[in-house]
Amino acid sequence: MVRTDSELERYLQLTPNSRALWEDAREYLPGGDSRNSIFWNPYPIFIESASGCHVVDADGVDRLDFINTMTTMILGHGPEPVLRAVAEQASKGLAYNAPSRTQVRLAKLLCERVPSFDQVRFTNSGTEATLNTLRAARAFTGRQRFAKAEGGYHGTHDSVSVSVRVDPASAGDADNPRPVPASAGLPDYVALDVVIIPFNETQTARRILEENREDLAAVIVEPVLGSVGMVPADPEFLDMLRDFTQDNGSLLIFDEVISFRVAQGGAQETYGVTPDLTSLGKIVGGGFPVGAFGGRKDIMDLYDPTRGPRVSHAGTFNANPVTMVAGATTMELLTPSVYRNLAELTETLRQGVRKVCTELETPVQVTGLGSLFGIHFTSAEVRTYRDIAAEDADLRHRMFLGLLNEGVLVASNLVGSLSTLITEEDIADFCAAFRKVLERNR
Ligand SMILES: Cc1ncc(COP(=O)(O)O)c(C=O)c1O
Repeated sequence: MVRTDSELERYLQLTPNSRALWEDAREYLPGGDSRNSIFWNPYPIFIESASGCHVVDADGVDRLDFINTMTTMILGHGPEPVLRAVAEQASKGLAYNAPSRTQVRLAKLLCERVPSFDQVRFTNSGTEATLNTLRAARAFTGRQRFAKAEGGYHGTHDSVSVSVRVDPASAGDADNPRPVPASAGLPDYVALDVVIIPFNETQTARRILEENREDLAAVIVEPVLGSVGMVPADPEFLDMLRDFTQDNGSLLIFDEVISFRVAQGGAQETYGVTPDLTSLGKIVGGGFPVGAFGGRKDIMDLYDPTRGPRVSHAGTFNANPVTMVAGATTMELLTPSVYRNLAELTETLRQGVRKVCTELETPVQVTGLGSLFGIHFTSAEVRTYRDIAAEDADLRHRMFLGLLNEGVLVASNLVGSLSTLITEEDIADFCAAFRKVLERNR
């Protein structure tokens, strides 16, 4: 308790302007913001500016950015080629009421990269992307229900707002997880339409899927369980999902809104498993609001207005030209060697954190894939959502505040990602800060 207070005290001392801004913000915005997923106790820092791999808060504190807007800013903040392309596009118009070549450029780049993409469509968020993959699956199969993994986050629309950061105490046995609404205000049918499977428990998940085989339009899964902990799927888990869906007339959907970061073709390239549909977001828009979904042509045909269309899809800002050029410029800069370099540096960070924890005799599991990492204070291997839920949340929060105090920004559950601007020296600084904070909090 004394330790908690000391980390909190430092935070309060460092962030008086953020606190004042937050208190003012609360007058006009519930909780002082528009994004609950980035709130932390006692209040978040307010960012004044971001440049390269640094963010500066309202108190002038400069921090190394190891989260990059929840994994989005893969080239860091304000990459010159992207800023130039955006300025040029802005001079030609910000938003149009007819298609432009900008969207074809990004569509081609994505179809060339993503193994499952014959065709793609753009949205303004990852939420809309997963919504459309599920809607397409229902339209294509004529079935209603779908399966998702416990702990899987697929955005904020109703269907997927089930069993996300769920308390295991209210979620049934690990072998038979039950759907738990992740929000107030959901219609009752939402939980009835979802089948929950345990992530990475291949045999149990297969059994549950078999029990519902005739009902399922789709299985949607993150190949790397993302915001909840950055836990990569076991290859056999994804293989099983591919086989099951193929054998039972349902579609396999990969939600790669985060995991598209791990290779040019996303995690589906890394694992060698090609889903029927894939949702993307975050890095694809180069820092602008974006989502994309795509897959097999016979499914994507549902969206073709010259053939119907059977699935409705509109959106004033879909394929906004500024977003499209920022995204295309970003994609072109992301060559295979960039991904290799990012993965190597991130592995250095993972090893560094493990080393510090070993030396300070603190049980830890460091997970991740490619440029994604998750730090979990637990001695047991972390493979499933229940493993994540069992970690030491109190130490995690002290470490998070401590890292902020030492000039490092990660997500409040200690997940993070690297940008291409992070150097070996920055990793060494991260590990030094981590050691310092762990020394005073273990
Ligand atoms: C895996 C995954 N899917 C979907 C989403 C939703 O994307 P957005 O926040 O753009 O709606 C997120 C957001 O973090 C995500 O991590």
